[in-house]
Amino acid sequence: MLSKIVFSKFIIVLWLSNTLYAPQLSAFQPPKYLAPKFSRDPQTLKLASTDFGHIIHNTPWAVFEPSSVSDISALINFSNSLSTPFTIAPRGRAHSTLGQAMAQGDGVVLNMTNLRNFRKGSGISVSCSPSGYCYADVGGEQWWIDVLHASLKYGLTPLSFANYLYLTVGGTLSNAGISGRAFRFGPQISNVLELDVVTGKGELVTCSPEKDSKLFFAALGGLGQFGVITRARIPLAPAPTRAKLAKYYDKNSQARAEEEVANLVKRLNFLPTFSYKSNASYEEFLDRVHTRELEERQLGTWDVPHAWLNMFVPSSRISDVNEGAFKGIILKQNLSPGICGLYHMNRNK
Ligand SMILES: Cc1cc2nc3c(=O)[nH]c(=O)nc-3n(C[C@H](O)[C@H](O)[C@H](O)COP(=O)(O)OP(=O)(O)OC[C@H]3O[C@@H](n4cnc5c(N)ncnc54)[C@H](O)[C@@H]3O)c2cc1C
Ligand SMILES: *[C@@H]1O[C@H](CO)[C@@H](O)[C@H](O)[C@H]1NC(C)=O
Ligand SMILES: *[C@@H]1O[C@H](CO)[C@@H](O)[C@H](O)[C@H]1NC(C)=O
Ligand SMILES: *[C@@H]1O[C@H](CO)[C@@H](O)[C@H](O)[C@H]1NC(C)=O
Repeated sequence: MLSKIVFSKFIIVLWLSNTLYAPQLSAFQPPKYLAPKFSRDPQTLKLASTDFGHIIHNTPWAVFEPSSVSDISALINFSNSLSTPFTIAPRGRAHSTLGQAMAQGDGVVLNMTNLRNFRKGSGISVSCSPSGYCYADVGGEQWWIDVLHASLKYGLTPLSFANYLYLTVGGTLSNAGISGRAFRFGPQISNVLELDVVTGKGELVTCSPEKDSKLFFAALGGLGQFGVITRARIPLAPAPTRAKLAKYYDKNSQARAEEEVANLVKRLNFLPTFSYKSNASYEEFLDRVHTRELEERQLGTWDVPHAWLNMFVPSSRISDVNEGAFKGIILKQNLSPGICGLYHMNRNK
C-alpha cells in the first residue's frame, strides 16, 4: 500500500461494495502497453497469495510484471488516474511471514523479481572513486547472494548482511537487515549511501542523507509504504577470505585469528557441550543458511508455516524477556522453541 490516502479510499470502496454494488474490477482499462504486464493466471495469483510464513493468504486482483523501472512508475500513475486507486504491494522474494508482500482483493502485487530478467547485466555494478572508495549500485530486485558474488570478484564485500542471502535488496532494506555483524556495522539500512525510489506519485526520485532525506529515511525500513526502491548504493570494503566462529580473517592472519578467538572464548562463561566451532570460507560462512535451506527442502520442512517474530529488546528489559518468555513460557510449558537467535545491537549504529 503506497500511501495512507490510497488505503483509506480502499476501505471505503470495500464498504460500498458490500452494501451497494460489486465493483467491476475486470473493467480496469490499463494503457495498452501496460495491459500485457498484468497477469491474472490462476497459478501466478496463487503464488502471490502466500509467503514464507504460510499463515496469511490474500489473493490479489493481478500480479504486475514490470520489465523496467518506468513500468513501475506507469503502474502507479495508472492507479492514481482512477477515481479509486488500487493498492500496490511490492514483492521481493516474499520471505516475509505475515503477508507484508501481499495485496488484498482489488490490489496488485508488483513482482520485483521480474525485473531481474530485464536488467541486461546492469542489475549490479561495482565502482570505485579515484580515492579508492568503492560501492555497488544494485537494483532493488537483486538478491544479496548475487551482490556478494559480484563484489567478491573485485575482492570487495558489503559490510552488513542478513543471515540468509536469498532475499532481495529492496525487501531487507524495507525491513532492517540484521545479523551477528550488526552490532559492529549497523543493520543493512545503516549501510546505504543513496536510493532510487518511485514514489506514490509515480516520480522516480534519487535520495540520500543529503538529498530528499525524508524520503530516504522513510523508505529504509518503510515496508514499501513510501515508494518502491529500484536502486540502492551500498558501500563496499575489502573482503576477508575466511571466517572462524564469526571472526573474519585472511590467509596471512590465520595464526593471529586462532589466538584471538581462543582468547575471546576463554573469557566467556558457557557449558562446553554448547560450544560451536566453524571454520569456513567467508562466502560459505555468509551463505550458511542456504545450506540448511537445501537440507530442509529435501526433508520437506522448508515450506511449512513459520510463525517467526523479530523484535528489538532494550538491554534494560532483556532479563524480563528471559524470565517471562524463555523461563516463564517456553521452559514452564515445555514448548519446543524452534530457532531463536539473539543479536547484540548498538543503538549508535
Ligand atoms: C530464512 C530466512 C532468514 C532470514 N534471516 C534474516 C536475518 O538474518 N536478518 C534479517 O534482518 N531478516 C531476516 N529475514 C527476514 C527478511 O529480511 C525479510 O522477511 C525480508 O522482507 C525478506 O526480503 P524479501 O525480498 O523476501 O522481501 P518481501 O517479503 O518480498 O518484502 C518485504 C516488504 O518490503 C516490501 N518491498 C519488497 N521489495 C521492495 C522494494 N523494492 N521497494 C519497496 N518495498 C519493497 C514488501 O512490500 C514488503 O512489505 C529472514 C527471512 C527468512 C525467510
Ligand atoms: C515473479 O517473477 C519471477 C521471474 O519472472 C517468477 O519466477 C516468479 O514466479 C514470479 N512470482 C510471482 C508471485 O508471480
Ligand atoms: C508518472 O507521473 C509522474 C508524476 O507526474 C511523472 O513524473 C512520471 O514521468 C510518470 N511516469 C510515467 C511512466 O509516465
Ligand atoms: C581451516 O580451514 C582451512 C582451509 O581448509 C585450513 O587451511 C585451516 O588449517 C583450518 N583451520 C583449523 C583450525 O582447522
